[in-house]
Amino acid sequence: MFVWLLLLVFVLWMITEWAKRRHMVKLAAALPGPKSELPGLGIAHKFMGDTEAIMHSLQQYSYESMENNGVLRGWLGNTLFFIVVNPVDLEMVLKTCLEKDDLHRFIRKIIGNGGIFAPVPIWRRRRKILVPAFSPKVVENFVQVFVEQSDKLVKQLSRCSGKGKFQAWPFLSTYTLDSVCETAIGVKINAQGNPDSPFLRAMCDILNMVCKRIFHLWLQPDWLFKMFPMYKKHQACIKTMHDFTNRVIEKKREELKREKDSQTEVDHEYDLGAYKKQTFLDLLIHLSGAENGYTNEELREEVLTLTVAGTDTSAVAIGFTLQLLGKYPEIQEKVYQELCEVFEDDRMLVKEDLMKLKYLERVVKESLRLFPPVPLIIRKVLEDITLPSGRVLPAGSGVACSIWGVHRDPKYWGPDAEKFDPDRFLPERFNLEHACSYMPFSNGPRNCVGYQYALMSIKTTLSTILRKYKVIMDVEQSPNPSIRVKIDIMMKAVDGYEVRLERRERNPQV
Ligand code: HEM
Repeated sequence: MFVWLLLLVFVLWMITEWAKRRHMVKLAAALPGPKSELPGLGIAHKFMGDTEAIMHSLQQYSYESMENNGVLRGWLGNTLFFIVVNPVDLEMVLKTCLEKDDLHRFIRKIIGNGGIFAPVPIWRRRRKILVPAFSPKVVENFVQVFVEQSDKLVKQLSRCSGKGKFQAWPFLSTYTLDSVCETAIGVKINAQGNPDSPFLRAMCDILNMVCKRIFHLWLQPDWLFKMFPMYKKHQACIKTMHDFTNRVIEKKREELKREKDSQTEVDHEYDLGAYKKQTFLDLLIHLSGAENGYTNEELREEVLTLTVAGTDTSAVAIGFTLQLLGKYPEIQEKVYQELCEVFEDDRMLVKEDLMKLKYLERVVKESLRLFPPVPLIIRKVLEDITLPSGRVLPAGSGVACSIWGVHRDPKYWGPDAEKFDPDRFLPERFNLEHACSYMPFSNGPRNCVGYQYALMSIKTTLSTILRKYKVIMDVEQSPNPSIRVKIDIMMKAVDGYEVRLERRERNPQV
């Protein structure tokens, strides 16, 4: 009897919801849907497996979207999403739908209103402050940090070279965390020397839990999540990350106060050049108006945003590139030849070298095309929007902008779209008809502020590793690389970036 009552309540609730959404449902019905839709569930059953299975479903829906001129409908329970891969439609979505989807609320528990997922009015103010902090003048001064941290990384890797396969992920993610922490807050957390650092562990664990909440409907309501044993760990991770950042901010405030008190001549003019040795934290304090600017909580949100946005993304990009070079040794040799030409001896890299590494840059860009660390961006549709292709997305739906899909669509990349071919980025060949056909760092007003920082960090690390070591993997027989991938907030390799390293003869002293 109780079960029937429950069922009746459920059905009534579904009908009410359905009625409320009649408009949305009507518009959704006019758009193509996926082959595997179940009544009531939509495509939710395709997201119940592990993170590899979920990524596989996202890829499949991206391909199905390509078959339907770049827009595909998909219901996740009673929530409506569209998977968009049409670059002209994408450009409009990324310009007009600036609000992030509600699914991001789980990550907001960690970074609060930090720029990346903040509601639009808060994001606008914060973006204005963040952009000058990422000016090329500031970012290029961080190259020295990337060089020192890459040097540490290469030394760590010497423990594994010549000893068979190993997982590169722990080495790469601790390298990027060390670099981001040093440039963002000026703290050498030495995660590379201490991979068990509580901050690193808390960050890895919490991102994993957030990912589970995004895709597993039963973990989404807060009241239900609190009943799972995972909740306690979730709260402990947040506390570790917040306590650590709060301590750094308080110390920085004291330091700035001491400096101010000891100043004899006061110069309130702000000059980015004068801050070239400063961290993002210093810059954000000054750019937001010093004592009258960001509160400590706002600073914590921004600093944690940079840490979360900048750490795994770059590590993932380095990992995929290393694996691709291992699979295609002839491409790796070309990279090595370029490195030998630019670095005639065993000197350290300086920022001017980065511009000379043109082939390496093409390799990185091609790696970001085939294996974008952020394979999709989810935005919210607040008002009905008519796309340039004529399709209408109804208010209340979510749009998954599939970077994975648009990067592999033969309409824009040719019949060999899946081939690993760095030379497609040669200036004479690279001629994109639509800006959004290539967007590993997104596009529009909410794109990645850290893209120059990321490219500099990635190129510095790869050039340092590849000068010392040859990457060995089973050679890929097909021109189309296959790497098993999973979704773990970012898209990551299932095997943890397994590679073998062999020391290069030219630099045997490490
Ligand atoms: C390969 C490395 C990276 C990739 C692929 C990447 C990708 C992205 C993407 C796709 C977005 C946009 C999401 C959207 O349009 O909704 C984004 C936003 C952002 N990224 Fe990156 N990112 C990388 C590295 C970094 C680094 C190193 C930093 C900072 C140190 C950073 C900081 C940010 C911030 C703050 C935002 C939010 C921008 C805003 O909403 O105004 N990213 N990133």
